[in-house]
Amino acid sequence: IWLWVLALIIAYLLGNISPSTLLAKAKGIDIHKEGSGNAGTTNALRVMGKKAGVITLVVDVLKGTIAVLIGFLLAGSTGEAWCVLAVFCGHVWPVFYKFKGGKGVATAFGALLGLNPLMALLTLLIVVIAVLISKRMSVGSITGAVVFPFISMFMERDFLYIGIVLAIIILVKHRANIKRLLQGKEPVMSIFEKKKT
Ligand code: G3P
Repeated sequence: IWLWVLALIIAYLLGNISPSTLLAKAKGIDIHKEGSGNAGTTNALRVMGKKAGVITLVVDVLKGTIAVLIGFLLAGSTGEAWCVLAVFCGHVWPVFYKFKGGKGVATAFGALLGLNPLMALLTLLIVVIAVLISKRMSVGSITGAVVFPFISMFMERDFLYIGIVLAIIILVKHRANIKRLLQGKEPVMSIFEKKKT
């Protein structure tokens, strides 16, 4: 049980590492006050450019995968499943940043990659298609969150509950995006904007 608790704590703390917040701070910006105000890849890209976006994406994904691998090493397959939730919660509600984190998508993807690469990559494929069609990351994120539980239903029922919990939190965190989408006010992703001009 102690190893299990240790794994959860490590996963939660890993989730707290926020590349977008740190990169913004280094540039003298508060990521929570710029763009969408979100501490995630899309907003890092929007506010600080491609390099910061890529670094944020890689670190946020990797911390998810690493947390799940540590969970597996310390506490087996139950441990790794709980570590998905722990690292995700660490990213969304980081104690070190006054509980102001991101929307959890990149970290959830990284964690699921550690749990079941095939399911994660299948979800990613659908997310990429949704983003390319809509030109909006939020549409991709929402689609991925909704699709993953269905993929679990067909491929690995053990992950269904994790998928549902992640989907609910991701959808709640995207409520402002959903509102903007319904009003037709959600901005196009910055990479698509640049291509146009
Ligand atoms: O994962 C976050 C993305 O779906 C939306 O980010 O900054 O446009 O609210 P943002």
